[in-house]
Amino acid sequence: MSTGDPPSAHELRILCERLAREAGSVALKGRGDRTPAAATKSSRTDMVTEHDLAAERSIRATLERERPGDAVVGEEEGSSPGNSGYRWSIDPIDGTTNFAYGLPLWATSVAVALDGTTIAGAVVLPALDRVYSAHLGGGATRNDRPISVSSVDQINLALVGTGFGYSPELRSRQAGTVARLIGEVRDIRRTGSAAVDLCLLSDGSLDVYYEEHLNEWDVAAGLLIAAEAGATVSDLAGAPAHPGSVLACSPGVHDRMLDLLVRARGIPSDG
Ligand code: IPD
Ligand code: CA
Ligand code: CA
Repeated sequence: MSTGDPPSAHELRILCERLAREAGSVALKGRGDRTPAAATKSSRTDMVTEHDLAAERSIRATLERERPGDAVVGEEEGSSPGNSGYRWSIDPIDGTTNFAYGLPLWATSVAVALDGTTIAGAVVLPALDRVYSAHLGGGATRNDRPISVSSVDQINLALVGTGFGYSPELRSRQAGTVARLIGEVRDIRRTGSAAVDLCLLSDGSLDVYYEEHLNEWDVAAGLLIAAEAGATVSDLAGAPAHPGSVLACSPGVHDRMLDLLVRARGIPSDG
């Protein structure tokens, strides 16, 4: 990055890739280690390992050196203020349960926003050697090759990804929605990582992804990658997406999926 001038979105994308690759390699060393760090988080099943902590520390250390005035929010260490207008969002391991069980679908996710708009992001899957990234207006890539969403236009042919929160009550309600949807679509997948789901949507490996009650760090990079790959993105009511409510689809099935979700979630027993 040149000194003095503000970085371009493309330069920040390259930095997101580097940060996520480095942290991903730190984490990869501990793949399959199910030993919890000091505490679990929101519920007994919401794990944090020493590898989540080490991966986030790796990103923060580089940002402190190379981007000292920027704000940072990370899942494990919370928020650090900044005064530059740039704000980084870090999920050091998205898909911690997969990581801890030695399954390959987990990722390091890094995004940067300028004055509230995400302008660059990267999602690295160390166990599969995949790097997804995007910058605003610059398209999305997987391992440096352009990617785009699928061209499916019938909802009954759409492969749908979703996820569940950690609270037993919440995940039971979310499973109720899945039960009402599964007869209307090709099938449902639960990969265990929101960031990975958004990348799989972006390269056409899924046709739809929806989830509620996520956090900024889960989706900041993935939503930009999906939008740059041509996805139609909204919340589950058709308004702009936010971490609490995300629907990202191949454009040919967005409206129909929205109708189905409104109906499936509108049933009172599903809350
Ligand atoms: C979780 C994953 C999962 C989603 C959960 C997230 P974590 O993040 O993204 O797919 O369903 O809601 O909390 O805990 O593995 O970083
Ligand atoms: Ca996460
Ligand atoms: Ca995480």
